[in-house]
Amino acid sequence: MRKNRLDEDVYILAIESSCDETAAAVVKNGREVLSNVISSQIALHTLYGGVVPEIASRKHIEKINQVIEAALEEAHMALEEMTAVAVTYGPGLVGALLVGVAEAKAIAYGAGKPLVGVHHIEGHVSANFIEHPDLEPPFVCLIVSGGHTHLVVVKDYGEFEILGRTRDDAAGEAFDKVARAVGLGYPGGPKVDKTAKEGNPEAIRFPRAKVEGAPYDFSFSGLKSAVLNYMNHAKMTGEEICVPDLAASFQAAVVDVLVSHTVDAAKNLGYRKVAMAGGVASNSALRAGMRRACKRAGLELYYPSPVLCTDNGAMIGAAGYYEYVNGVRSGWDLNAVPNLRLGER
Ligand code: KG4
Ligand code: ZN
Repeated sequence: MRKNRLDEDVYILAIESSCDETAAAVVKNGREVLSNVISSQIALHTLYGGVVPEIASRKHIEKINQVIEAALEEAHMALEEMTAVAVTYGPGLVGALLVGVAEAKAIAYGAGKPLVGVHHIEGHVSANFIEHPDLEPPFVCLIVSGGHTHLVVVKDYGEFEILGRTRDDAAGEAFDKVARAVGLGYPGGPKVDKTAKEGNPEAIRFPRAKVEGAPYDFSFSGLKSAVLNYMNHAKMTGEEICVPDLAASFQAAVVDVLVSHTVDAAKNLGYRKVAMAGGVASNSALRAGMRRACKRAGLELYYPSPVLCTDNGAMIGAAGYYEYVNGVRSGWDLNAVPNLRLGER
């Protein structure tokens, strides 16, 4: 296993701007968060029912300097004391990513620091290292965010084997679309989570999709259609829709599939540790379902605190650290790669 073989402490200034959070953090030796500043644009995008890329880019430009200054200030450290600058360069919204990448390049070049480009999803996975000092690869990780749903084996730091992925919508996307359809608004995930607490998850039996011949792949578009069909049918027959029951039943269908695929993968492939990452990993039903199933199967379960599940700078600092100690250095020509694949450089 590749560990830090450096004698000196490594301080990473990390920058994240791939979607609608402008974030910066200072992370020591990959696992100790000295500051984690997040400026969320959610209120702004709520007006439009989703993230408006143009607005996101403009807001990042407005906020990024303040956020970075605040991160250094909260860590009581100066830029000169940083070992390297890490930045998310993909995947994400191209205009949003570009703001962080351009800023990181300017700062690193100006201060004479190495630059480390980080994969956003590797960041999400690495959020697990921050609060779990005992967690080391290999482990199975379920990555569930607004744009991604992947089941992977984290073989080593920065080394992934993809077992399965979604064939259509990401899990978070399904939450957001269903929330919009039932009038819960944006961002959908947390609203469905909260509303579902008042409902019966067994009230409506929604489909649990399996992908033929690909046991670890996911598909959520059929479930989304089933929810819409249910609503249309209720409207046509004049039945009243119980939104908490609908939210709880939809959530249960998503959670069942996510949990069973993940636990099956760990059992079948012989891994003892399971982790979760991404915004949807903060879902209370998913956490509870995964806890139950892992306990039953004798698996060790890890997930980050909610603030480290959704986009943040600390996770980029953790991933950036492992890339840095593995010798990864980005050139001054580092560019935003909106569709960057996991495991690609
Ligand atoms: O990881 P993230 O912050 O951004 C991406 O990289 O996409 O994930 C955002 C997604 C959104 O779809 C949001 O609705 C979902 O995570 N989410 C949740 C919860 N909190 C955030 N979904 C379900 N339950 C939650 N509690
Ligand atoms: Zn994310």
